[in-house]
Amino acid sequence: MSAAMEILPQDRLFVLTGAGISAESGIPTFRGQDGLWEGHRIEDVATPRAFALDPQLVWRFYSMRRAHALKCKPNPAHVALAQLEEKLGERMLVCTQNVDSLHELAGSKCVIHMHGELFKSRCSNARCATKPFDDVKTYQNRSDIPACTRCGALIRPHICWFGEIPFRMDEILDHLQRCTVFLTVGTSGVVQPAASFVEVARQIGARTCYVGPENPANAGAFDEVVLGPAGERIPEMLRSLIKPA
Ligand code: OAD
Repeated sequence: MSAAMEILPQDRLFVLTGAGISAESGIPTFRGQDGLWEGHRIEDVATPRAFALDPQLVWRFYSMRRAHALKCKPNPAHVALAQLEEKLGERMLVCTQNVDSLHELAGSKCVIHMHGELFKSRCSNARCATKPFDDVKTYQNRSDIPACTRCGALIRPHICWFGEIPFRMDEILDHLQRCTVFLTVGTSGVVQPAASFVEVARQIGARTCYVGPENPANAGAFDEVVLGPAGERIPEMLRSLIKPA
C-alpha cells in the first residue's frame, strides 16, 4: 500500500473524484476523446447562455447522458471507496465532480456532487424558490421541456455549467480544511476550483495522493502519484483497509 494512503484511527479522508473513476463503468471522460458532441464543443452546450439560446439542444445533450448513465454500473473503484466509508464513517467524504450516481449506487452515503446531479432538474429562474427535484426523464423537443409550476420558467438540468459556482462549496471547504489524507482519483486537474483542492490540503499538512492512468496537470502538488486505472489501483491500495478485521 502507498505511504500516503495509510489511514490511522485519527485520520480524516477527503476523496476528490473526476470523470476517470467512471471511465471503466462506460461513461466517457470529458477530455479523453475529441470533446465534441454532435459537432458542438461541450463548453458550448454546458452554459447558461447555451440554455437561453437553445434549451432543446441542451436538453438533448443531457437526455442522451441520462439515457446512457442509466445503463452504467459502479466499478471496483466505486465499490472499494464505499467499503472504506463503512469502516471510516463520518471521517470520510467523497467530493465528486461527476454528475452520475455511481458512488451512491456502490453504497457511498457521504457524497457531495459539486458539479450537480444528472438525475435532478430545477427551475432555470435563479430567483425562484423551487427546489431541485429527482428527474430521470428525457426531453427531445422544445415542447417536451416542462415549465416551473411556481414561476413558469423552463426546467433545466441541475448541473453546474461553465461560468456558474459549484454547489456546496462551504461544506466542501469545511471538510477539506479538516482532512489529514487527501486522495484524488481520475481528474485531469485543469478545472477550478477542484484542481486547487490539493493545494489547500497540502497547506494544512495532509498527505496527498493521485490515482489515474496518467499524470494530471497538477501532478507536482501531490506527495504521490499512483499510475493505473482506478478500477484496479483503488481496490489494491485500499485492500488492507477494507478487509474484515
Ligand atoms: P477529464 O475528462 O478532464 O479528465 C479525466 C481524467 O481521468 C484524465 O486525467 C484521465 O487520465 C483520467 N482517467 C481516464 N481513465 C481513467 C481510469 N480508468 N481510471 C482513473 N482515471 C482515468 O475529467 P474531469 O477532470 O473530471 O465539469 O473534468 C472536470 C470537469 O470538467 C467535469 O466535472 C466537467 C468538465 O467540464 C462540468 O461539467 C462543470
